[in-house]
Amino acid sequence: MSETDLIARYDQRVPRYTSYPTAPHFAHTVNAATYRAWLAALPAGMPLSLYLHVPFCVRLCLFCGCNTQVVRRDGPVENYARDLITEIDMVADAIGRRLPVRHIHWGGGTPTSLPAHCITEVSDRIAQRFALQAGAEIAVEIDPRTLDEPRTAALHAIGMTRASVGVQDFDARVQKAIGRVQPYDMTARCVDRLRAVGARSLNIDVLYGLPLQTVDAVERTARLVLELAPDRIAAFGYAHVPWMKRHQTALHEDDLPDAEARFAQRGAIDGVLRLAGLHPIGLDHYAQPGDSMAAAERSGTLRRNFQGYTTDDAAALIGFGASAIGSLPQGYVQNAADSIAWRQAVRAGALPVSRGVALSEDDRRRRALIETLMCHLAADFAAAPDLLAEAAEPLAQMTRDGLVARRELTLHVTERGRPFLRNVAALLDAYLRPGEQRHSRAV
Ligand SMILES: C[S@@+](CC[C@H](N)C(=O)[O-])C[C@H]1O[C@@H](n2cnc3c(N)ncnc32)[C@H](O)[C@@H]1O
Ligand code: SF4
Repeated sequence: MSETDLIARYDQRVPRYTSYPTAPHFAHTVNAATYRAWLAALPAGMPLSLYLHVPFCVRLCLFCGCNTQVVRRDGPVENYARDLITEIDMVADAIGRRLPVRHIHWGGGTPTSLPAHCITEVSDRIAQRFALQAGAEIAVEIDPRTLDEPRTAALHAIGMTRASVGVQDFDARVQKAIGRVQPYDMTARCVDRLRAVGARSLNIDVLYGLPLQTVDAVERTARLVLELAPDRIAAFGYAHVPWMKRHQTALHEDDLPDAEARFAQRGAIDGVLRLAGLHPIGLDHYAQPGDSMAAAERSGTLRRNFQGYTTDDAAALIGFGASAIGSLPQGYVQNAADSIAWRQAVRAGALPVSRGVALSEDDRRRRALIETLMCHLAADFAAAPDLLAEAAEPLAQMTRDGLVARRELTLHVTERGRPFLRNVAALLDAYLRPGEQRHSRAV
């Protein structure tokens, strides 16, 4: 089958499977009372992972699919930090004991929209209410355009160990088209500063499928990114979802590459990164062979959560801030996505949860298989042969197309199938309705 036919067949709208069930299937049946009970039931000594969401940016990139808003004054952001501290206290009170933490992720938006003193105050409160373990990873998402000296010093003070830097594309025409002007030199200076204040590990995000991008442009970007010597690279396909993110309508749709061009761009980035010795991880990540993510992939301990691929294997992830999602042994919870609703709940002394899902037994077995497929491109169906049988027909087609191979009850996704990993995972998704519009395209 030709590449064109393959793309035509599999360019469907499918979830990214950073959770299962996926967020659109969370419901209001999970509320603050449910969350309170789930927190109270966390066993003593259970290591946690924490996620802090900061939904602010100085300006909006036109492609952005994150939960964020523009803010140019410190006042609202300082208020947000105060509310975040209140939420940390509320959650710690509901847990009722000081549980160990081995991973903190500051995401957004742009976490360093917080003024320097807010970054340290939030971090201090976490250290008071949770027991930060020695060697804990503290990861921060960084926008190089806005990281100033005081904030860099604050990242040092909170013990940042890993930085994830947004690049997207270094081509000047593409940068103009997406409303994000970020020259290479500015990025390189930022990376140097981050390393100087303790970022032992560096991730860089690039995108393909953006307006005006070409195979040549993304290859040049990939080579420039390699000059920054990152430990990891995430190469995401641009998710064009203007029905959910209205500002994306400001991008010229005529300038967007079609599915075949996107596929070629993905392949071009993949080629440059593999040639440079990076190890492909799952759907869209690359790691230096000596990096802990490559090691986790080799040893079978790699995980996938709302931040994407991770080496963090904590059984509970607690989310703080508007729209943050938590994953507890009983199920998922999501805070109110709207920052005003989130703030009102926090100020009223209520856990700001708006929805979630309690996992059924069927959810759990599908979730485990989807996660191992997304991480390791293989899954053993010995304990769930019925799920393999359920997907027999589309899997037979995928086998003929060279995307998957079966060895008894183990399903393997081939290298040819790697770009279509989400399509394979979708075969195990009991919630997905055919033709659903809300997700981004697979290719
Ligand atoms: C929260 S941002 C990273 C930190 C910082 N705000 C920045 O942009 O530099 C997370 C990453 O999500 C990715 N992203 C944002 N919008 C996207 C979209 N519509 N489709 C795919 N990836 C997207 C970008 O690669 C971006 O670097
Ligand atoms: S990509 Fe990053 S900096 Fe740009 S709007 Fe989104 S969150 Fe903000």
